[in-house]
Amino acid sequence: MSAQIGVTGLAVMGANLARNLARNGYTVALHNRSVEKTDALLAKHGDEGDFVRTETLQELVDSLEKPRRVLIMVKAGAPVDAVVDQLVPLLEEGDIVIDAGNSHYADTRRREAALAEKGLHFVGVGVSGGEEGALNGPSIMPGGSKKSYEALGPMLEKISAKADGEPCCAWVGTDGAGHFVKMVHNGIEYADMQVIGEAYDLLRSAAGIEPAEQSEIFAEWNKGELSSFLIEITAQVLAHVDAKTGKPFVDVVVDAAGQKGTGRWTVQSALDLGSPVSGIAESVFARGISSQAEQRAIAQETLAGHEASVEVPDGFVEDVRQALYASKLVSYAQGLDMLGSAAKEYGWDLKLDEIASLWRAGCIIRAALLKDITAAYKGDSKPANLLFAPAFAESIAAAVPAWRRVVATAVQLGIPVPVFSSSLAYYDALRRKRLPAAVVQGQRDLFGAHTYQRVDTEGTFHTLWGEDRSEISAVDTH
Ligand code: 6PG
Repeated sequence: MSAQIGVTGLAVMGANLARNLARNGYTVALHNRSVEKTDALLAKHGDEGDFVRTETLQELVDSLEKPRRVLIMVKAGAPVDAVVDQLVPLLEEGDIVIDAGNSHYADTRRREAALAEKGLHFVGVGVSGGEEGALNGPSIMPGGSKKSYEALGPMLEKISAKADGEPCCAWVGTDGAGHFVKMVHNGIEYADMQVIGEAYDLLRSAAGIEPAEQSEIFAEWNKGELSSFLIEITAQVLAHVDAKTGKPFVDVVVDAAGQKGTGRWTVQSALDLGSPVSGIAESVFARGISSQAEQRAIAQETLAGHEASVEVPDGFVEDVRQALYASKLVSYAQGLDMLGSAAKEYGWDLKLDEIASLWRAGCIIRAALLKDITAAYKGDSKPANLLFAPAFAESIAAAVPAWRRVVATAVQLGIPVPVFSSSLAYYDALRRKRLPAAVVQGQRDLFGAHTYQRVDTEGTFHTLWGEDRSEISAVDTH
């Protein structure tokens, strides 16, 4: 029996994707560096579909129908290169190598170019939804050549999550586009998680609401415009009580957030693109500060807070909900704006309506909101920023008074809300008629003759600061 797809790397994500493929009727060849994992998977789940057991990559390749489809699910970085290097000599023109891990898009671009020279397709695929999603239907963001999608797309669409009956899988663009889109998804995920954390902290520290009660609040919020997977699981996390101590689970967990790198990559890439993803960046930095245990301990002893004693305003819980909504919207707006900049830089035809649409189900940032975001980017008059889409301009405007009250209260009480406050600053910076950037331009011109433009005359100018301060026409040097 020849297999339709091979999967190498059978840790939980690879194993679950292989099982998902088999459950959907595909014959799946299995390979793992140590055959014990393959045998364990077959022993436990071998009856879920048609699997072909292989011990070597050569056997895996030999078991596949052509063009061959080999899905790699190993740790991002050097392990991917190691598997690709072993696979390539075994493959033939037209075969497809699929990297479904969280690889950096620049690595994917490099690998795609190298394999294309050999007549092979290399497809970087973003897969979101964690272990459960991989098994039951993830959101899938494939890149690579359009041609490869003909042979691969139907399979991926079949195993993907469905939203309103549509697959949450679509070809997003050439070479590294799939991994780029997945990376930005993760950046938004970081910000989304952090804003929920900030809401929790405010409700607890400012309003004194204990986790169990907060769990009910989050469950309630999950019924409205905030409805999303992350709000839903937050309700579960807050309701959980530690069996050992009887304390709320969140009180026994060390408050240092881990990170594997995709949030950081989003911010690094955004800096290269000049894309202002301030909320996403603050969420990455918030994880960084949380992990600086030593400095936090010293700061608690040495740095003064001078918190004001402010009354928590009536309706504070609803205010926090609205601030959370507005900040969350800004995170999505920033992530999507970054995708727009990347599309220009890398020549990708990223369709923001399609991308928002395939985040509607299966992935970690799935949210009711994404249906409206999809609608906002459909049609010819696409907004330059998500916040300008009439529906969102209206809903965020409605939240602004509460958002300002919440940030002001947090600042007075000394409760850090980096994403709430930076998102509000982003919103205000966009709206503001004059920004202090004019002062910065003046400084740059004074110390470095970096030149400036005028509001009233075309051209580039420099003031002779060290002489008579007359203005001369200059060549733009920045
Ligand atoms: C997903 C998740 C997944 C993974 C994160 C975790 O979309 O399924 O994003 O890819 O859980 O990368 O990232 P951190 O460990 O950096 O929080």
